[in-house]
Amino acid sequence: RGLRVADKGFLNTAVITSEITYIDGDNGVLRYRGYPIEELALHSNFLEVAYLLIYGSLPSRPNFKVFQREVMTHSIVHVDAEGLFKSFRYDAHPMAILSSAFSALGSFYEEANPSLRGQNLFTKSDPASLANMDKQIYRIIGKATTFAAMAYRVRQGRPFVTPPTGLSYTASFLYQMDHLGQEDYVPSPTLAKALDILFILHADHELNASSTTVLQTGSSLVDPYSCMAAGIASLYGPLHGGANEAVIRMLISIGHPENVPAFLESVKKRERVLSGFGHRVYKTSDPRSFIIRKIADEVFKETGEDELLKTAMVLHDLAMKDEYFTSRKLAPNVDFWSGLIYRAMGFPMDFFPVLFVVPRVVGWLAHWRQMMLQPGGVKIWRPRQVYVGETKRDYVPMEQRV
Ligand code: CMC
Repeated sequence: RGLRVADKGFLNTAVITSEITYIDGDNGVLRYRGYPIEELALHSNFLEVAYLLIYGSLPSRPNFKVFQREVMTHSIVHVDAEGLFKSFRYDAHPMAILSSAFSALGSFYEEANPSLRGQNLFTKSDPASLANMDKQIYRIIGKATTFAAMAYRVRQGRPFVTPPTGLSYTASFLYQMDHLGQEDYVPSPTLAKALDILFILHADHELNASSTTVLQTGSSLVDPYSCMAAGIASLYGPLHGGANEAVIRMLISIGHPENVPAFLESVKKRERVLSGFGHRVYKTSDPRSFIIRKIADEVFKETGEDELLKTAMVLHDLAMKDEYFTSRKLAPNVDFWSGLIYRAMGFPMDFFPVLFVVPRVVGWLAHWRQMMLQPGGVKIWRPRQVYVGETKRDYVPMEQRV
């Protein structure tokens, strides 16, 4: 009642108070729980950052050891889940497989489903309920890499690989992806480290479309696996998780560095979009893009330079000097370089959004946990609308309709 204006796209609606991630889009600042992203990328590792985002502080050594052990232990997937993966067509999109897998996983763990009991099972005051919540968190982070690798391998008709022991989170992921049966196979430390930093950069980005979807879904008190499935569905869309793939397609279509000026002219005429540039929040360079640029150099030293890199560099340099882009504060975002790195590492293009999901489940879980444990309990997210349809009409029987 009384609502006259809709805030389309939530441009001006804050739906929650949060202590997790801080972004200053005008000055290119990104902090997780107060720590600058640059420092975390330089000194930390993905699982430590996961702990930080979810629990609010950097872990002590014993706490980290427990967290790491639990996550890695829970990377094993119930053998019954394999049938689900095998039921997809060979060319199914891995995001569709992943979303279905998380949704199905919820049916394995009834103790995580508050909706079956009609109440929030997760309360701060009850240690057993917090332990229950931790278990779901370990499972989801642990199984994210295993599910991703299974979605990758099933499409190639290759057998699934049991998660190895003794490797880091990202090295274990690469092992499960690439293992071809060699007994002594160990993934490249350079590539595992590069992926670890990329995972840190993608772990959270406050209330983007998928994190909002996770919270909206969780606000009905459904289980966290269903929340993850909803988040994956949101990230699947090309306006969200698909931009790094769009960058590669754009670079392929440009073809050669000398074609860049003509391409930029077509962008200015609004015939094309410069993928990997621009951001709703950042009105200067995305701070993650500088870190990614450095990782790219490390990766290319090992894999060889991607043939599209020269075109990307010329495109970047010319756009950053061009008044059309500078006057609109358009600068590279996280996706401009990440696709080139993933391509050099050998991942297929339609797998790029999966490489976004695996680290982002951490951010989703941090937001979900914060909401479930918030003082005063969970309030269901039920927004309002401005109704602009018909006023009252009388029903007309079918034989009288024209
Ligand atoms: N290429 C050409 N022109 C652009 C671009 C672009 N990539 N981005 C914005 N503009 C123009 C836009 O047309 C507008 O021009 P004008 O004022 O003359 O009408 C002006 O720049 C301002 O744009 P905006 O309204 O501030 O942009 P937005 O906040 O509505 O959209 C965006 C943000 C990310 C959707 C957009 O910049 C875009 O489409 N970028 C390309 C896709 C991309 O790289 N997406 C990844 C985002 S980061 C990862 C993630 O969050 O999932």
